[in-house]
Amino acid sequence: MSESTEARAPANRVLPHELPASLRDAGLENWIREPLDDAVDRRRRIIMPPAAAVMGTPASAYQGALLAEARHPDTVFMMGDNPALPTMPARPTLRDFFQLRFSKIARTHLLQSARVAREHGLDEKVIMACLLHDIAIAGLLSANHGYWGAQMVAPYVDEEIAWSIEKHEALRYFPDESVGYRYPDAYIDYFGPDYRPPGYLRREAEAARRHRWYMTSRLVTINDIYSFDPNVVVGYDEFEDVVGRNFRQPSEGLGFDGSPVAHMWRTMIWPNNFL
Ligand SMILES: [Fe+2]
Ligand SMILES: [Fe+2]
Repeated sequence: MSESTEARAPANRVLPHELPASLRDAGLENWIREPLDDAVDRRRRIIMPPAAAVMGTPASAYQGALLAEARHPDTVFMMGDNPALPTMPARPTLRDFFQLRFSKIARTHLLQSARVAREHGLDEKVIMACLLHDIAIAGLLSANHGYWGAQMVAPYVDEEIAWSIEKHEALRYFPDESVGYRYPDAYIDYFGPDYRPPGYLRREAEAARRHRWYMTSRLVTINDIYSFDPNVVVGYDEFEDVVGRNFRQPSEGLGFDGSPVAHMWRTMIWPNNFL
């Protein structure tokens, strides 16, 4: 098809298009959303993988090819709602992120941890911290997840809750026999028996241990459930009361309240935006 023919094609028609072999071979067809009946404008939309997701992987070599793909007249980069994801309400609440964005595994892990904390009769601050402790893994980034997660929720929760979320990442690696906390078996599987946490995490854990809120964060690690049992169902409703008392939901919706962390919530609403 000549360029002039393409230019005259009706706007609602999807043009035949062959993905370059380099992108197909790299498995990058998965990053390109072909137009579907529900697509907003019936154009192909490319998702450019974020640097943090592809650095150090073969996929990082294909940024140029993806940029070239976007020059086709029937192709744009993904911006705004991705039809593959449920549409978020205009004023999203914490519940919406749990139900419409987090994977089943992540959601269940958080809800199960909170349930165990509640069954142990722990303070609501601990239950709330357990409910949120891996929220960054669930919706944003895994590396440094304690820090990302603490920042995400800091404007909306008690300072002690945010602190305990931040520190649980480091404290997870270090046993405290006085409260029966051992190095997690799951970490031996995940990282190998020879893994040693880096110095900055060791220093973080040592400082946290001397802090007045140490036990709040330690309790998060104790109630951090690593087994994923697909037969266990924990509903978000179970914690609506705890969330209502411990999470200051902004009236504009998470992502739109102008807080210093609103962009993190918007990134979870539109995770595939090119910019
Ligand atoms: Fe964690
Ligand atoms: Fe966890």
